Amino acid sequence: MEVFHAQTQLKEHLESIISSKKTIGFVPTMGAIHQGHLSLLQQALNQNDIVVVSIFVNPTQFNNQQDLDKYPRTLERDVALIKMLSDNIIVYAPTVDDIYNGTTIAQKFEYDGLESEMEGANRPGHFDGVGTIVKMLFEIIKPTNAYFGEKDFQQLQIVRKMVQKNNLDVNVVGCPIFREESGLAMSSRNERLSEKAKQKATYIYKVLQEAKDVFQKSDVKQTVDYVTAAFKKETDFTLEYFVVANEDNLQTVHQKETDKKYRAFIVAHIEEVRLIDNIALN
Ligand code: PAF
Repeated sequence: MEVFHAQTQLKEHLESIISSKKTIGFVPTMGAIHQGHLSLLQQALNQNDIVVVSIFVNPTQFNNQQDLDKYPRTLERDVALIKMLSDNIIVYAPTVDDIYNGTTIAQKFEYDGLESEMEGANRPGHFDGVGTIVKMLFEIIKPTNAYFGEKDFQQLQIVRKMVQKNNLDVNVVGCPIFREESGLAMSSRNERLSEKAKQKATYIYKVLQEAKDVFQKSDVKQTVDYVTAAFKKETDFTLEYFVVANEDNLQTVHQKETDKKYRAFIVAHIEEVRLIDNIALN
């Protein structure tokens, strides 16, 4: 399996692949590889001639230095897990300098307001950092298809918008949330939970499924009230937000309309770990 740390070498390696018109599937990650990432890689393997995965903890998307410092960096283990899935996956694990060349600054992006909702409202600059790194990686790797999990649904929509606005020639593929058998959405953050909290955290998806039911039988207000009450009685959790939003523009909705697609988004904390999840409502 080939692991590259320098973009010049990776580009050289990919040149002949690109000119021979082979398809390249790309999975960007920040490492701490788990089953969710492996499911994206499996889909990329099924749909492309060549697969590239990047492992890079991108400093410009963190608005909190402590969060950045604490982010797990487990390259050796990550490479071993990827190798177990397939020996043919190309790994790009650059240094910060290889990407940012001494200027670790995010570009400014305009995502037609998608960046002001939910995660964007709470993490200023976060989606500029995401847009910056994803665009750079697309320019280095020139993928045919790029795979993003629906767990970070807002990120997925933002990457789609960035691709559209910059006329990038890449097909962005959204992949369903990969869940533990218990229903808990796979995330590197789950590793920070005690076994007891991991068990408890299954409550998030349970309530989301119930919320979907309430939404289909009644209206937005009752759905929000239902979830708010469900978390009020579970004192191990702090509910940061629960929002019903239009799937396309991510704006919070208060009234259902026909022909629109809705999704519920949640962030809840347990044992000081911030867990994020979402569900399609119709
Ligand atoms: O979802 C992530 O892990 C990151 O935001 C991404 C897309 C790899 C960009 O750093």
